[in-house]
Amino acid sequence: MLYKLAEMGAYHRTMKVSTQYLAEKTGISQQTASRNLIELDKLGWIKRSITTEGCLITLTDVGKERLKNLYSKLKIVVEAVYPLSVTLEGLVFSGLGEGAYYIKQDGYRKQFIEKLGFDPYPGTLNIRLDTDYDIKTRQELENYPAIEIEGFKNESRTFGPVKCYPTLINNKAKGALIFAFRTHYDSSVLEIIAPQYLRNQLKIKDQQKIKVEIFTMP
Ligand code: CDP
Repeated sequence: MLYKLAEMGAYHRTMKVSTQYLAEKTGISQQTASRNLIELDKLGWIKRSITTEGCLITLTDVGKERLKNLYSKLKIVVEAVYPLSVTLEGLVFSGLGEGAYYIKQDGYRKQFIEKLGFDPYPGTLNIRLDTDYDIKTRQELENYPAIEIEGFKNESRTFGPVKCYPTLINNKAKGALIFAFRTHYDSSVLEIIAPQYLRNQLKIKDQQKIKVEIFTMP
């Protein structure tokens, strides 16, 4: 509705319009149009006055900002070469307790702190993807730009490079999806690191379903 009003002239000037005409223009009922105007007014996105001649409407500075904000967000979504995020779903399971060994390595830890902005809990939360959609999406992800963690050497061995994607787990906890560690897992498994011990933070147990929203790099 805000966009329609802007399109009809209320972005640049005060316009006069009847709710009936507005309803026709937007393909909604007159009651809905009228309710929308009241809501927009309450939000402070439009200034509205009712005169004997009809409804006078103009977008406020806040309303204009909302549209500009939407415009820049749309521009990013439309112009991006990759999806900005994908969401995968799978079941939590326990591994052999190997994750901690890798995450604790200083060569990795320093880079996680610097490049992801958090010091990870020593371990990885394993998730098994259980639908074709999720497995296919996980494979697609490998082509999307990621945060690169470099490999390194210590006295006894070499550690390979790791790709990370910032993630949001169950729409609540921040973390990162990591690909690599010469993993023994196939592409149906996700390994997640996070600043917190996720099993406690999210009250999750083995075999529980969780959602992981994964953000690609712009
Ligand atoms: O091989 P497994 O994933 O079972 O063990 P690990 O990687 O050494 O992680 C130790 C435990 O911490 C596992 O139960 C993980 O699921 C859990 N974990 C967690 O809850 N939150 C994290 N941020 C990392 C690991």
